Amino acid sequence: MRYITTPIYYVNANPHIGHAYTQIAADVYSRYHRLMGRQVYFLTGTDEHGEKIARAAAEQGKTPKEFVDMGAENFKMLWKTHNIENDQFVRTTDPEHKESVKEIVRRLISGGYVYKGVYEGLYCVSCETYFTETQVEEKLCPDCGKNLEKLGQESYFFKLSAFSEKLIKHIEENPQFIMPKSIRNEIIGFLQQELIDLSISRQDVSWGVSFPADDSHTVYVWFDALINYISAIGYPHDMARFGEVWPAKIHLIGKDILKFHAVIWPAMLMALDLKLPETVYAHGWWMIEGGKMSKTAGNSVDPLELIEEWGIDPFRYFLMRQVCFGEDGNYSLEQFISRYESDLANDLGNLLSRVVSMLIKYQPEYDLSDSLELESKLKELATELDALYDDMKFNLILEKIWELVREANVYVESSAPWRLAKEDPATLNLVMTNLYETLSALAWFIYPFMPETSQRMNKDLGLSKDYESGEFSWPSGGDFSGVSKGAVLFPKKQ
Ligand code: MSP
Repeated sequence: MRYITTPIYYVNANPHIGHAYTQIAADVYSRYHRLMGRQVYFLTGTDEHGEKIARAAAEQGKTPKEFVDMGAENFKMLWKTHNIENDQFVRTTDPEHKESVKEIVRRLISGGYVYKGVYEGLYCVSCETYFTETQVEEKLCPDCGKNLEKLGQESYFFKLSAFSEKLIKHIEENPQFIMPKSIRNEIIGFLQQELIDLSISRQDVSWGVSFPADDSHTVYVWFDALINYISAIGYPHDMARFGEVWPAKIHLIGKDILKFHAVIWPAMLMALDLKLPETVYAHGWWMIEGGKMSKTAGNSVDPLELIEEWGIDPFRYFLMRQVCFGEDGNYSLEQFISRYESDLANDLGNLLSRVVSMLIKYQPEYDLSDSLELESKLKELATELDALYDDMKFNLILEKIWELVREANVYVESSAPWRLAKEDPATLNLVMTNLYETLSALAWFIYPFMPETSQRMNKDLGLSKDYESGEFSWPSGGDFSGVSKGAVLFPKKQ
């Protein structure tokens, strides 16, 4: 079972391309493995507790419950427009999740991992995070730059410090645990400093899961939120189901929340005596003109506007193609348009349109007798891409697919079917069959990234493929009989 998760999104956030990015990557990954007939379970959801949410609700004159219900619906709708096929949507206000959090805290208490103390620190309400004096300058949050509040309060602590050696050992012995490799040393370095225990309860936050054994406290939102990855699949109320799905294959996250996932979360799992996820994969950050995107700066990119104007598939394609997964990326509309026009409209769109027009015009006969070379090339490509999917090398996968698109365009030019139609009908049959089979393979290859485009290509080719599951197969099973011309795949906008 490939269990893949995304972070659960703060329900008060205005979704921007950064959120869409994690989500689309997880969707591409799951669609591909489903296509290959492998078992996948894809979880996403919303993070709904904490002071920040309660304040945002009050500002809108709503109760926290009304506010989070609305926010969760908003995210669900958003993911529909992105064609995200998640198996489950978890909310931290789900009764089962809250019960699970309580039971986990109880187990940690009885295991001796929790004690009562006093927490003094600088707290950022916006990021729900405490910082020590050494981490900050001028009492400003190092993450969001807002003012920090000095808080000293009674709190329950999780003995995080007890796990540093075990964590270092795990990371060193399991090179795939933190990906990409470039960020592993950052976490090892962090663990080699003195790890401090984690305050896991708040007295001043009422919108949260009440702390077992002391209901004057609520559970710290990050502690609550991380538990979603196991509460959603049945821990501890349905252990049979839990056993089928856990451990996670991949926790997909942004690099800003790596410490929560590569330090705190595995320590919690160790304390519960549970297996650790196989990989925590941290992707890079999307920026605008080299700077951070934010609502306050007024520069955040709204995915819905882009999707409305250009369609969902170009948006999915751009995010996956533009940067190497794991590295930061710079968003600009010019780059988006340039990818749309060159890769999509000129390369892929034109190829389909030309080949389909020629099939209709010249009425060649389907003849596979000169396709051996193409067959082995496509099969090799399918094997090569399979390995790249495991490393989440989405941009490389698309690069390889587009090499095939461009080669096919060159093949059209060099074989000149318009000449063959007059001079050599037998060769025309062979050439058009190769082009037809290339397009059918392309529809299969691009499916995880651009499911709608893939379907439209198959329709034009007269292939009724729904891709429920099925590895790459040769030949397509179609002949030319069902070919028809649909609307232009990627219309140019002028
Ligand atoms: N609620 C927490 C996650 C809890 S998981 C147990 C949270 N939520 S978030 O909504 O702020 O962010 C969710 C994800 O979006 C993070 O992985 C974050 O990295 C990602 N992104 C938010 N802005 C981003 C960009 N500008 N670029 C890329 N991803 C970014 O953190």
